[in-house]
Amino acid sequence: MFAKPEVWEYPYGRGLTRRETHTFINTMIEEWDQCGFGCWIAIERATATVVGYVGLSVPMFLPEILPAVEVGWRLDPDHWGRGLASEGARAALREGFTTLELDEVTSIPQTGNTASFMVAERIGMRFHRTVSIPANERRGEVEGRLYTMTREEWIACT
Ligand SMILES: CC(C)(COP(=O)(O)OP(=O)(O)OC[C@H]1O[C@@H](n2cnc3c(N)ncnc32)[C@H](O)[C@@H]1OP(=O)(O)O)[C@@H](O)C(=O)NCCC(=O)NCCS
Repeated sequence: MFAKPEVWEYPYGRGLTRRETHTFINTMIEEWDQCGFGCWIAIERATATVVGYVGLSVPMFLPEILPAVEVGWRLDPDHWGRGLASEGARAALREGFTTLELDEVTSIPQTGNTASFMVAERIGMRFHRTVSIPANERRGEVEGRLYTMTREEWIACT
């Protein structure tokens, strides 16, 4: 799935190599140990097929908003357009506001990634402003859209 260019069009404009995929997955597993939360593999119940991941992480790529917890999603294109990202994101928000007792959850989809910021809007997150996401070793600076949801806003929409 990670080798498909459309899965990583934002932010890399290409699919990941096998080595990059291993590094990414190992980092996600380590985040569970470091933070006590992280991303889950999303599995279609009816077929037990892996369709992607969804979950919570610390947006280290945007130091200006830290401390923060981000809800994120990335699905196999074979399963886009079925509302699965929204379903998974709502489950992640529930975990964040109940088990983790967070006061606020953020999301920072890249400007231009319409499908992604539509998920943020569909699950009730509030757009604040555009932000510059600093360059890293694999990409230049990119622009993101900063969304947040407070615990009170989550309670009001559940
Ligand atoms: C973002 C992503 C998870 C959304 O998956 P999904 O659950 O299938 O969501 P949908 O395809 O139903 O799209 C969500 C919304 O965006 C709209 N949308 C989808 N593609 C679109 C496009 N190219 N242009 C405009 N709108 C689009 C849909 O119509 C839908 O809108 P609605 O809420 O009004 O119905 C999926 O596209 C993905 O995995 N993309 C690659 C990884 C990625 O970029 N992740 C986000 C990183 S921040």
